[in-house]
Amino acid sequence: MRLHQLAGTTPPKADFQGKVAVVTGAGSGIGRSTALLLARLGAKVHVVEIDSERATGVVAEIEREGGKAQPHTVDVTDADAVATLAAAVYATDGRVDILHNNAGIGGVGPVEETPLEDWRKIVEVNLMGVVHGIHAFVPRMLNQGGSGHIINTASGLGLFAAPEMAPYVTTKHAVVGLSESLNAELSNRDVYVTALCPSGVNTRIFENSAVLARGAAADRRRQTVARRAERFGVHPDVVAPAVVDAIHRRPLIRTVPRLHIAPLWVLHRISPGLMQGLGRGAIRIVYGGR
Ligand SMILES: NC(=O)c1ccc[n+]([C@@H]2O[C@H](COP(=O)([O-])OP(=O)(O)OC[C@H]3O[C@@H](n4cnc5c(N)ncnc54)[C@H](O)[C@@H]3O)[C@@H](O)[C@H]2O)c1
Repeated sequence: MRLHQLAGTTPPKADFQGKVAVVTGAGSGIGRSTALLLARLGAKVHVVEIDSERATGVVAEIEREGGKAQPHTVDVTDADAVATLAAAVYATDGRVDILHNNAGIGGVGPVEETPLEDWRKIVEVNLMGVVHGIHAFVPRMLNQGGSGHIINTASGLGLFAAPEMAPYVTTKHAVVGLSESLNAELSNRDVYVTALCPSGVNTRIFENSAVLARGAAADRRRQTVARRAERFGVHPDVVAPAVVDAIHRRPLIRTVPRLHIAPLWVLHRISPGLMQGLGRGAIRIVYGGR
């Protein structure tokens, strides 16, 4: 089965020639796969990363394939740095057709063992990082002429919840709501917004996230989660075609793979209470929780 079939998408068409894309957190996982695919389809990609080696590494990969890309070392929690990024991208290319606010970190642990510092860190990266992207780029995207598309990476956990992940779930629900509100406001001005909601993806998020596992069982959680992600998580190359599909079709919410998320989402819509029990079971299996 081809990757785009697993993602429930049509095969990407090579029609991004002359388009400009900005992808945050593009040095690894979902962001890297999306940056590579957009470049293969003809877009120039601004690869935005907190880790400069990763940014230059992905740019080198794109250039080896004959694509166009530019690295930027930016921490998305720094509003001034994101504003400077937007100014630099517009100075170079004059427009942004695709903004993928994707940088994010994970977090899991009992709430009573989660320090405020972790809450703040997750909110700063996963929510304010997206807000900074919106704040810096949207006014320019509205003025540039032509259409634009913003993809905000949320999660299946932006549509329903799991226990022992309250800070993460908080940010991802916020990103879904933020995306819906923005699309309602901007789509009649030709800027479309999609909340991307992947299920478990086998990426480095678990090693990249300093706040991933807290509490007495942190080491066990970290190992369990990494093993489960490797075994059950989809490859990030499954998610990238869903981003391209979302740019073509402009859905408000794009789940991927649809079969992993849609049944739980529907169940949650029917009975949020039923999802509570399922969530507790799932967290025990996936994260080795209590
Ligand atoms: N992996 C999953 O199972 C999964 C599932 C659903 C949603 N997501 C979301 O997908 C997005 C990408 O995650 P991933 O799984 O590809 O993780 P990843 O760790 O492989 O990639 C994330 C990248 O973001 C970068 N980053 C982190 N903080 C940053 C900051 N402050 N500024 C700029 N860059 C920063 C990291 O250096 C890393 O290269 C995240 O928003 C995550 O919450 C992941």
